Amino acid sequence: MRRAVCPGSFDPVTNGHLDIIGRASKLYDEVVVAVLVNKKKHRLFSVEERMDMLRSETGAYDNVTIDSFYGLTVDYCVAHDIRTVVKGLRAVSDFDYELQMAQMNHGLAGVETLFMATNPLYSFLSSSLVKEVATFGGDVSAHVPESVSARLTERLADGS
Ligand code: PNS
Repeated sequence: MRRAVCPGSFDPVTNGHLDIIGRASKLYDEVVVAVLVNKKKHRLFSVEERMDMLRSETGAYDNVTIDSFYGLTVDYCVAHDIRTVVKGLRAVSDFDYELQMAQMNHGLAGVETLFMATNPLYSFLSSSLVKEVATFGGDVSAHVPESVSARLTERLADGS
């Protein structure tokens, strides 16, 4: 059984993430989207909310499941018997750090990283940019699913 993990913060999930997850689901028998629990970083959405959005938006894929993890991605992989991490690469600027992580992850646990070239439609897209644009009333409807856009509007309006 070929299994892979797509790790990330997903605060919130964007169309770019969903493109990578959908394409990974065609390459692997099972894909786990693993949401990082990072207590040190302030997030707009809780882990449960982020997982909920991911569940709704990946419901069409039978072989995609959503989970969360705390700590190292490789520890999650080892604990769940997963040998491959799938990451989207948007631009050369992503590459330096991603390469370091891929090499470290391989050294730590023999976990392989598959880099998938981001669809050019999403090469400029990040959760941070989406949040910044939405914060100042910009239209993000082309960059995140409709339900995520609605949640963003609601969350930013309530000021939390
Ligand atoms: O969506 P993000 O924030 O760009 O995702 C980054 C993430 C969660 C994939 C990365 O920071 C990560 O794997 N964090 C878990 C801790 C870890 O394994 N760090 C890398 C050590 S080589």
